[in-house]
Amino acid sequence: MAGTVMKVMALMLSNFLVTSAVITTIKVYKVASSHNDPFPICTIRVVEIQGISRTSCAIKCLEEPLCRAFCVKGASCHINGGHLDGHWPGAAVDHPHYKKIFTYDYCYAILDDGDVTSHIVDTSSSTFHTQNLYPELVVNGFYCHIPQYHGPFHYCFMTGTSESLGYWRATLDSPQTISTINVWTRGDGYAKKLFHNVEITFGTSSDFNNPVFDSYPNAALFTGEMITFNATSPVTGRYLEVRDLSPSDALCFCNIQLLQ
Ligand SMILES: *[C@@H]1O[C@H](CO)[C@@H](O)[C@H](O)[C@H]1NC(C)=O
Repeated sequence: MAGTVMKVMALMLSNFLVTSAVITTIKVYKVASSHNDPFPICTIRVVEIQGISRTSCAIKCLEEPLCRAFCVKGASCHINGGHLDGHWPGAAVDHPHYKKIFTYDYCYAILDDGDVTSHIVDTSSSTFHTQNLYPELVVNGFYCHIPQYHGPFHYCFMTGTSESLGYWRATLDSPQTISTINVWTRGDGYAKKLFHNVEITFGTSSDFNNPVFDSYPNAALFTGEMITFNATSPVTGRYLEVRDLSPSDALCFCNIQLLQ
């Protein structure tokens, strides 16, 4: 019946499912409730709700197509466009670039179907940029999806500026079968090709000499975008490498998502 919205929900420990009508279900998981500066910038809107609960705030998130996370503070439901990784550690005290800390009562992030990114237990890279753009920021940072504000840059990974043909590596705790990998690229308008001609390999060899999962021969937009790597058929492995095949620039990207 057009215009009728039926809300059903199932509670499961700290993870829970929220379904609105018959069309959408989101799975959410609890994340750290403190954030540094850029997170509030990514807030799409704040809704006051009488008798607020995680479910009523989750339903507001469900109504907003760009919502990736939501936080409750008092009676306010903060609908946020930030994709938070499973390893999000909460606000960093004395963050070199984002000094302010915002604390909510609690926060949840959307977990996409088949997302196995949280199985990544170790990251490394050929080199990293002197501005503390560490390899782990790819899995413990966040990425703001709202179009006006892709990024932020200081939650991205980048190799040293003078390095070409660099790489980023991840090790999973156990073999996982993956068919799609999403990578979010730097989006602050910096006019260099920092995600250009990139190949991803994935498999069971711990020396990272694994078959090519998929490659992306183009250059990502300077305004940031999500690039999807597709396996021809699902691949099982523990060792993943993102390789820069372009000899001209460094390699930079902000977030990765591994999907079954
Ligand atoms: C992966 O598949 C999607 C959807 O078909 C497509 O848009 C994307 O370009 C593909 N990725 C690559 C690297 O070819």
